[in-house]
Amino acid sequence: MTITLKQYPQCISDLFTCGLMYAVAEYKIHSPQPLTQSESWDFWTQPRSSFMEWLARTYPLKTQRMSYLNRMLDHDHASGIETHYDVSNDFYALFLDERYRFYTCAEFQSEQDSLEEAQTNKAQYLLSLMQLQGTESVLDLGCGWGAMLKFLQDSGHQGQLAGYTLSKEQLTYGQQQLGLNVSLTNFITNDFVEAPYERIFSIGALEHVRPHELKDLYQKIYDALVPGGLAVHQFFSLEREPYPTSMVLMQLFFPGSLLSMHETHIQMAQEVGFQITHDSIHDYQPTLQAWYQRLLKKQDQAIELVGLEIFNRYMTFFPTAWLFFQQHEAELHRVVMKKPETEKHK
Ligand SMILES: C[S@@+](CC[C@H](N)C(=O)[O-])C[C@H]1O[C@@H](n2cnc3c(N)ncnc32)[C@H](O)[C@@H]1O
Repeated sequence: MTITLKQYPQCISDLFTCGLMYAVAEYKIHSPQPLTQSESWDFWTQPRSSFMEWLARTYPLKTQRMSYLNRMLDHDHASGIETHYDVSNDFYALFLDERYRFYTCAEFQSEQDSLEEAQTNKAQYLLSLMQLQGTESVLDLGCGWGAMLKFLQDSGHQGQLAGYTLSKEQLTYGQQQLGLNVSLTNFITNDFVEAPYERIFSIGALEHVRPHELKDLYQKIYDALVPGGLAVHQFFSLEREPYPTSMVLMQLFFPGSLLSMHETHIQMAQEVGFQITHDSIHDYQPTLQAWYQRLLKKQDQAIELVGLEIFNRYMTFFPTAWLFFQQHEAELHRVVMKKPETEKHK
């Protein structure tokens, strides 16, 4: 890795403020050439020396990263989310599964599974957790390109379906291409105006809810469900410690987002009255690898659509996210939360 004179001051400043991983990732994202497989996937996923590992994990120091992350949380996180998703629908179509466009962890049941099959396996799994009879009203928090809503329609679900997103590009796609009832609604700050629902689910959206917003959101979901209703969520959450150095690195991809500890999710959900009836762990790594491989093959089209920097950003995002799961900083969970038929007096 050679650092040019022009990049030198920025690299040094990133190194001191945000640590080794962030500085290297930022440097690579701004590479004047498309990143090759050895500069991106192989670079991030190969084992490092124990000194480098130690440095990457311990610097910035805990107090320093907490104050950096708390400053990042002052930003409007909605604009950070828009920045990630409003890149270009055609760009995402280059690497997501062709049928549904899920941008969340799939379920590879064997190495032979295609991404399309693995996403259908995941959707089928979540469908079974939802225990639908066919007519229930369902709300999707963070519906992306409408993948799960479309899957529910394809499975013959007849009940009312609605979805919220923060991305204008996704909204256009969901409304115009799929004819879905989706709206540009921030599920953290807005009321769920068409409540009550019999099911509320989210796939890959609770990652964007910051720790201090979690309890109010679970309360809102609880209040918006009918008695006996289910909330079904797929999300990843921290397993080892709050504020790890990897959260600083992730600001490059999701500015203003901060993951919560898994135990915090469960505790907050129980405190508002939910019973946890299912909590399973799944492997995100094969999905990240599949997206990366597809994007790598579509390099020229990708650069034409979004430019070199954004291409390099995703070529860095997928392997660093893979590493995050490899080190068990976080795990991907599928959780079912049940609102009791009869409520206890609060
Ligand atoms: C990783 S994508 C997942 C999309 C989809 N569920 C899927 O499985 O492909 C996260 C989604 O959550 C949405 N999102 C995140 N925070 C949100 C918020 N506060 N309000 C509404 N949508 C939100 C984003 O706009 C995006 O659609």
